[in-house]
Formats: sequence, C-alpha cells, structure tokens
Amino acid sequence: MYNDNPTLEGITKHVDETKQGEVFFTEGKKGDKHFYIESYGCQMNFSDSEIVASILGEAGYQPTRNMEIADLILINTCSIREKAEDTVRKRLRIFDKVKRQRPGTMVGVLGCMAERLKSKFLEEEQLVDLVVGPDAYRDLPNLVAGAEEGDKGVNVFLSREETYADISPLRLNSNGITAFISIMRGCDNMCSFCVVPFTRGRERSRSAFSVIAEATDLFERGFREVTLLGQNVDSYKWENPETNTTVNFADLLKMVAHVHPDLRIRFSTSHPKDITDDVLHTMAKYENICKYIHLPVQSGSSRVLELMNRTYTREWYMDKVRRIYEIMPDCAISSDVIAGFCTETEEEHQETLSVMEFANYSMSYMFFYSERPGTVAARKYEDDIPLEVKKRRLQEIIDLQTPMSYRHNQKDIGKTFKVLIEGESKRSDADWKGRNSQNKMVVFAKQGVHSAGDYVYVKINEATSATLIGEMVAGPGA
Ligand code: SAH
Ligand code: SF4
Ligand code: F3S
Repeated sequence: MYNDNPTLEGITKHVDETKQGEVFFTEGKKGDKHFYIESYGCQMNFSDSEIVASILGEAGYQPTRNMEIADLILINTCSIREKAEDTVRKRLRIFDKVKRQRPGTMVGVLGCMAERLKSKFLEEEQLVDLVVGPDAYRDLPNLVAGAEEGDKGVNVFLSREETYADISPLRLNSNGITAFISIMRGCDNMCSFCVVPFTRGRERSRSAFSVIAEATDLFERGFREVTLLGQNVDSYKWENPETNTTVNFADLLKMVAHVHPDLRIRFSTSHPKDITDDVLHTMAKYENICKYIHLPVQSGSSRVLELMNRTYTREWYMDKVRRIYEIMPDCAISSDVIAGFCTETEEEHQETLSVMEFANYSMSYMFFYSERPGTVAARKYEDDIPLEVKKRRLQEIIDLQTPMSYRHNQKDIGKTFKVLIEGESKRSDADWKGRNSQNKMVVFAKQGVHSAGDYVYVKINEATSATLIGEMVAGPGA
C-alpha cells in the first residue's frame, strides 16, 4: 500500500528500498570534482547524506545528479531487511559499469551495510574503493584522498559521542519547505529482530542548542516544517552544561515549538515504552507540534513482543493508544508491523490484526520478518515460519490496513484543515499539495496568490485511502 501513496514521501524511505533511491543535485562549476550520492533506508540515512554532502562540499566536491560525470559515486545503504541489501548490490553492479567506462572513478559504500559488512565489502565487491560507517563521515575527505592514490579505505569506527552537531547539512534535494533534523544517533534498545544497534552503535543525543540553532536557521531560510529524527526520540536526553540540567524530549519539543509559531514540528520514531504523558501534553499544548505519532507496534501478541524484546505488552500498548486519543482526540497514529516473527502462531497473528483495529491507524508500514545476521533473534530463535505463511499473514495485515486508511480518510470529509503548501501536485500544476497536522496529503485547486510555504485552510470533499481532496476556504470555521 505504501508505494502508491504520495503522502508518505519522505517518511517511507525504509519501506520499499527498491523504489526509494534518491539523488542529490546541484549545478557544479566546470573543473570541479563531482560526487554523486544515492540514499536508501530510513530518514536518518537521508539526513546523513546531507551531512556527507556538506563534508564533501568543504573538501571541494560538488554534487551532481549525473553519475557518468562523477569522480566519486557514493551509495548510503540500509541493512534492515535482506531485500534492502539486495537492492544495494544491484546498484553496485550498475556503478561497476560506469567505473569500467571511466577508470579513476571511485565508488564508496556508506551507512548501515558498510558498518555491517566492514572490510568484507572490499573482498566481495572488488570495485568498491571506500567503506565508511555512519559515525566516520568526517574522515571521508582523507579516505577519498587516499583512494585517489589507489589506497582502498575502510573506516567503520562507531563512536559514543559523534552527533555531527556542528555540521550544517547541505539540503540539496529539498523542496525548501520541509527538512529533517537529526536529534540523536544510534539505538540502545536491542529489539531482537533489529540490526540497527549493530550498524548505528550506542544511543547519544545531540546538543539541544545546536538543534534549536538549526531549526532557527531553517525557518529564516523559508523552511516551515522540521522533522526531529532519532530511532527512539522519546529517550532523547541531553545534559545542559551551563545549567547542569537535563533536557528531555518534551523539553526539546517545547524549545523547538518556540522557534516560531509558523514552524511546524514533527518527529519520528516514538517507542511505546518511552513516550510520556509529558510529551503528549506538550503536543496538545502547542498548535505547531503536529498531531501525528508514529508508534510502531510490531506485534499484537504479548508473547511475541517479549521474544522481540520490545519491553511492553499488548495491554501496555493499548493503554498508550487510549491515552493519546484521550489527550489529543484529533491525533493520527501510524505503525510498523512485522508478520511471521519466529514461532508466531495463527492466534498471535490474529492478535496483531485486532490491535491494529483497536488503534485505528491512519496508515502502517508492513513487513514480513527477515532474519538479520548477528541479531539476538538470529542467534536464539529459529526462523520457522515458512515464507508463504509470512507472505499470507502480511497480505492479511495489508488487507486490514488499506480499508482502515480509507475509512480514516473518509471521516475527514466535510472537515476543514490547516494545510502547509509543499508544492504543486504531481498530477496537475493547477493543484497544490500539502499536508495537514495529521500528516495526511491534501490536494486542492490553486486559488488566489499563494506559494509553497504558505498555510491555507482546505475543506475536504473527497478522500481515497492515500489522499484527501478538497478546496480552499477562508478560515477554520468556513
Ligand atoms: N527505530 C524504529 C524503527 C527502525 S526500523 C522503531 O523502533 O520503531 C523500521 C522498521 O523496520 C521497524 O519498526 C520494524 O517494523 C522493521 N524491521 C526492523 N527489523 C526488521 C526485520 N529483521 N524484519 C522485518 N522488519 C524489520
Ligand atoms: Fe531497532 Fe528496536 Fe532500536 Fe527501533 S528501537 S532501531 S526496532 S532496536
Ligand atoms: Fe536501514 Fe540503517 Fe536506517 S539499517 S532503516 S538505514 S538505521
């Protein structure tokens, strides 16, 4: 369901890695050295590519969208599921061809797959020159210089401190309205199915001051929405050395909300065990904090959740959902769901379906379990659900979510939403597209003099499972 849904752009990067490659681009000057970068995986990876672009820019490399003229071809990779890694290997075959035609072109693998496979990459993929993990991007200029001299370079050192707080990301592929801000890196959770703690290292939070400075700078440059990124944003924790006080996620949200009332704030991802009432009340209090929470459930069975080491039960999750709707009745909730985790029974699968229905998700990212080498699940549990069963259960999950999204959107017909215009609709330049607070894509006919970055009110007349369609009106009550 995700791929035909234009509303999910930018937040579905981890969903279908085969279709989500993205390239940065600007016109470079003649004589400049050029780099070309493709990104796969989650928003963190896309955000990291902007840091990489900034670091390479300082080192004299200009971005290009044309890999044929690039001196350096980079791929920022994801390891979350086997399919994600297969996609990267396919792209490397294509880069090989370019490299053969243009000897001297360097190919570098960045991100999670670089971290997972380390120097093995150089053995497996002969034409790769650089392997650089997520915490080693400052070393890229050195490694590139070495590679120019013919030395293959590997740096997969995982740091306990690196947050790239001082690096101003180069937002090359941006719509100029919405941007990501990484507020933390790594993950300490060790969900048993997940490779991220191994590829991204220990959790660390970035200075709140640098987050606010980045948000302020973005606002001044015309951006109107920031998405605060982390694998588990609710565990954000930063010690303010000036006051010796701790800034938690609710505090940070308040600080960013104060940057400007016209700067919208989103965040991702929340972990059900860590999202607090304090966060929910903060969201409710500030109009510019969007009423939308991505709260991955993974499974609806307490036994499976325990095997997954999610550290909450079905009941705990349902209580969180109740609390969200109690504090913010207009909040939309979305989820990630895994079908066919080790030993999952049909009854437990049914429990996943029923928890989804209970939560009334506006949408979900849905996957079947893919065993990842080195994880606790790979070491301790047998991947014993046959592929056809996993696929059938996943289909049942999708067949529940799609009409649920449709009903969720149908309920919006007749309502008026404040929408931030992100640009022209893909289908027609007579229409604007933008999102409401609940993160739903809204398409509506242009009227009057407006431009991307403006807030307008839109009354909804029609809805599909992916998009709300409406018309501009004068104000909220119109
Ligand atoms: N930090 C986020 C999500 C990280 S990965 C969180 O905890 O919610 C994004 C999603 O990929 C996960 O929520 C999970 O649903 C899915 N995922 C992770 N590992 C997987 C695996 N081995 N097989 C299938 N799906 C997986
Ligand atoms: Fe992976 Fe769990 Fe961390 Fe999310 S919280 S990144 S699923 S280990
Ligand atoms: Fe993939 Fe790494 Fe993100 S494994 S989902 S790119 S943190």
